[in-house]
Amino acid sequence: MLVLKTLSEIRLALEKVESPLGLVPTMGAIHGGHIALLKKARSENATLVVTIFVNSTQFSSQEDFASYPRSLEQDLIILEAEGTDLVFIPSDEEMYPKGYETRVDVGRIGQILEGQFREGHFLGVATVVLKLLNICHPDRVYLGQKDGQQCLVLLRMMEDLNLGTELITVPTVRDSNGLALSSRNALLTDEESHAAQVISRALFSTKEMWESGVKNADKLRQHARRILTEEPLVKKVDYISMVSCETLQELSIVQGKTMLSAAVKIGSIRLIDNLILEPVRDDLGKDIGKRES
Ligand code: PAJ
Repeated sequence: MLVLKTLSEIRLALEKVESPLGLVPTMGAIHGGHIALLKKARSENATLVVTIFVNSTQFSSQEDFASYPRSLEQDLIILEAEGTDLVFIPSDEEMYPKGYETRVDVGRIGQILEGQFREGHFLGVATVVLKLLNICHPDRVYLGQKDGQQCLVLLRMMEDLNLGTELITVPTVRDSNGLALSSRNALLTDEESHAAQVISRALFSTKEMWESGVKNADKLRQHARRILTEEPLVKKVDYISMVSCETLQELSIVQGKTMLSAAVKIGSIRLIDNLILEPVRDDLGKDIGKRES
């Protein structure tokens, strides 16, 4: 495994590798969710490139950026064990040198949900991912369903800008209690970590309600909110949302492939999670049953 820190080093290394190339972009603090991406990318490509870059431009506060967990030494051990060929760990100056100005704006879909509560978040995400795609030119890029809006925003960007890289989405990895794995979980106390299980519980229970035939999105949102607010360590529910996966429009009646998502503060830590509700359609195009993808 080669560890590369500068643009010239990674470019040189990429000249010598075999195609197809799979890219897994990360901000480090590697956990089981990242590992699922690594394993899939490893199994589908001749070369596996991983990037670790805690991207300052996607954080809305300096404090959040500063407290983001970092564990480089341990990360490299895991990446090596998962068969990574190249790891790119650029510095801030390498990615955003003096005079840097350009930002990628994906429009409305980047301004709702996470974009509404974390101003400029998706400008930062889209910009850094486009830069990483332009640096590495992968055949495939691997992203986690855990950050559902991120997947939809980056898919839009890749289609709109004709990037020609295939986006592969990997299902969310959860712990045995349902909590979606996240680097931020490391910042929770034991008590908060236990309380955080309420997020997946609320989402799965709402999915069950939808499966039982309730299509009214307000009723479904209210159901999720009730479960969340019963937990005393839930300090704030930023949103419970049901959007169409195609348009990212908030729905009043759940129809078609839908993303049910929530953003919740447990103590001072903000966590997000989502489930995809995917109806099975009959020959007449009516929703007749349900499955999650
Ligand atoms: P990061 O939070 O490090 O996540 C890197 C990738 O791992 C993302 O695609 C994310 O969706 C995926 N991931 C995280 N937790 C997961 C889980 N429990 N199950 C499955 N996949 C999971 O997302 C980012 O970094 C950044 O925004 C980035 C895309 C690297 C741009 O800076």
